[in-house]
Amino acid sequence: MNILILGSGGREHSLAWAVKQNPKCDRLIVAPGNAGIAMIAECASIDVENGAAVVEFATENAIDFVIIGPEAPLAAGVADALRAAGILCFGPSQKAAQLEASKAFTKDICDACNAPTAAYAHFTDADAAKAYIREQGAPIVVKADGLAAGKGVIVAEDVDTALDAIDDMFDGSFGDAGAEVVIEEFMEGEEASWFILCDGENVLPVGTAQDHKRAYDGDKGLNTGGMGAYSPAPVMTDSVIDKAMNEIIKPCVAEMAKRGTPYQGVLYAGFMIKDGQPRLVEYNARFGDPECQVLMMRLGGQILDLLLAAAVGTLDKAQVNWADDHAMTIVMAANGYPGAYEKGSVIKGLDALVEDSSNMVFHAGTKLVDGEITANGGRVLNVTARGATLNEARERAYHAVNSIHWPDGFNRTDIGWRAL
Ligand code: AMP
Ligand code: GLY
Repeated sequence: MNILILGSGGREHSLAWAVKQNPKCDRLIVAPGNAGIAMIAECASIDVENGAAVVEFATENAIDFVIIGPEAPLAAGVADALRAAGILCFGPSQKAAQLEASKAFTKDICDACNAPTAAYAHFTDADAAKAYIREQGAPIVVKADGLAAGKGVIVAEDVDTALDAIDDMFDGSFGDAGAEVVIEEFMEGEEASWFILCDGENVLPVGTAQDHKRAYDGDKGLNTGGMGAYSPAPVMTDSVIDKAMNEIIKPCVAEMAKRGTPYQGVLYAGFMIKDGQPRLVEYNARFGDPECQVLMMRLGGQILDLLLAAAVGTLDKAQVNWADDHAMTIVMAANGYPGAYEKGSVIKGLDALVEDSSNMVFHAGTKLVDGEITANGGRVLNVTARGATLNEARERAYHAVNSIHWPDGFNRTDIGWRAL
């Protein structure tokens, strides 16, 4: 098969790495890709948010299957354009991707099927939103409705912070994403993510993971896209998984189908778990980054068969072959991230690392300049390892991190602390 993956992050490097291990994969193209991806696949420069451009490229290159990595092409309707052109594609339609693109939409789906989630209200008017906040008190959570690159959520400890957040959102600091706000009850507990493939009707879980959102050790510093992850997440016990599946995932997937917008792709569910009860924090319509990296390390080449089963609607006949293993990924980011950072510094020591089915450095923001790997983004490398225990995976991953020479970058040293 000729396969096209859309995206350029660590998530897409890990997807490409796993897909390539499957004998069904003949030709692999990633658009736009990065320096690490270019070592294992062809990279193509196309506008991945332009459905017509993606269809044209896929047709010209006789692509049999397109895998969409990030949320922006999904929200732009690229999956719809591909399907309309008769090209097999993994990823939800624009309407179904509203599960990520609109928080109000997701809340409505949860209401319709009684899925446990935070109590909420949504507003298009700042004064009404403020009155509601004063009435509810703090802590309280203020969210811009649309996609805001992970920055549209303010967990306010006090009422004034929440009121300021409303002003910011209606002042346009969040662009169109802030034209509508969702105000939610603050949920206490431990967070975990679960990844479930869906074919519109059937569902197949492909692993749990825990991310580390804050920039620095001890969960200090600003929120980031994620500074490290591990899988499985011990807080997702069998009983929590059963509840999450029966009370949240299956009812929501059925509700989507009932509304004529069946969900086909990966459902990335974020839960808050307290006293053994999961409640939904959010859905995303794609794999998490860096969570995907640990899932791909554990799944390997079978992922292609699973993604194909989701795309053609045969997930009821598919199964995951699990090894009783653990994986961890550590993000190396440019100094200054998630604030301002420099591009162009040289990263050394990568060539000497062992890369095999249990040890990989997945690239995110990297660029090859004069034969050297240079930093070209905020999150730059995802140093990933697998082991029989989480501790073994951790030791391998940090051993590799410590062999990489990049004075202009930093990483957390406590990934996995909750589980270890
Ligand atoms: P979201 O973009 O909805 O995932 O929110 C980003 C982060 O904000 C989550 O991962 C949680 O840590 C936190 N958060 C969101 N909603 C709530 C809530 N209702 N209660 C507590 N924390 C929340
Ligand atoms: N790591 C969080 C995300 O991908 O949204």
